[in-house]
Amino acid sequence: MDIDALIQEQIAFYRQLAGVYNGQVYDREHWESLADTALKLCPHVETCLELASGTGLWTQRLLEYADAITAVDSSPEMHALSIDRIDDPRVNRVTADIFNLNLPDSYDLVFAAFWLSHVPMERFESFWFQIAKSLNPNGHVLIVDSHTAGPGGGGDTRQLTDGREFNIIKVNHDLTELNERLDALGWDVVVKPVTSNTYSVFGKIY
Ligand SMILES: C[S@@+](CC[C@H](N)C(=O)[O-])C[C@H]1O[C@@H](n2cnc3c(N)ncnc32)[C@H](O)[C@@H]1O
Repeated sequence: MDIDALIQEQIAFYRQLAGVYNGQVYDREHWESLADTALKLCPHVETCLELASGTGLWTQRLLEYADAITAVDSSPEMHALSIDRIDDPRVNRVTADIFNLNLPDSYDLVFAAFWLSHVPMERFESFWFQIAKSLNPNGHVLIVDSHTAGPGGGGDTRQLTDGREFNIIKVNHDLTELNERLDALGWDVVVKPVTSNTYSVFGKIY
């Protein structure tokens, strides 16, 4: 399948999944402890761009670190759940495809949780270039995602409760390779495990 079609299928999958997403994916206690540890790295900033903000779980926590958040997600259904969760004028929600994003502003922090693994390797370089372009001088990036030991993969199939199947992108990054790739692109980052199956990437462009 071509990458553009796969990206569209992934968008469609998450639109359908929105209503059951948190219950299905997050064990609350596990998530709280992951967020506490990962966000320890977070500086206090004026402006934050959150990519793939979903139902706003992380957005809510990011408000402890940022005076204003622009939260981007392609799913209006996810944004609607985020609005139910957080009614706060400091959050500006944008419905857009990250792979076709053209925001006029730059930010002190770019944050993304459980998103990097959904970026196809064919778009890896342009995605990181886009982050660099979105950062103010001296701005930071913080990425949190899951990975497992074993081969890298690239695709996955997900099924909704009604049986419909969707192809999505799921890149299982090896942390050493990820660090090397980012270093080669000019990023000064620390890539490290947060829990047994999650990792964070924190740093800035050289
Ligand atoms: C795995 S979820 C992560 C959501 C949130 N960060 C969290 O951790 O709860 C992935 C999110 O990416 C969004 N998404 C998928 N493809 C996208 C795209 N091309 N552009 C923007 N958002 C996208 C989905 O709608 C979904 O909310």
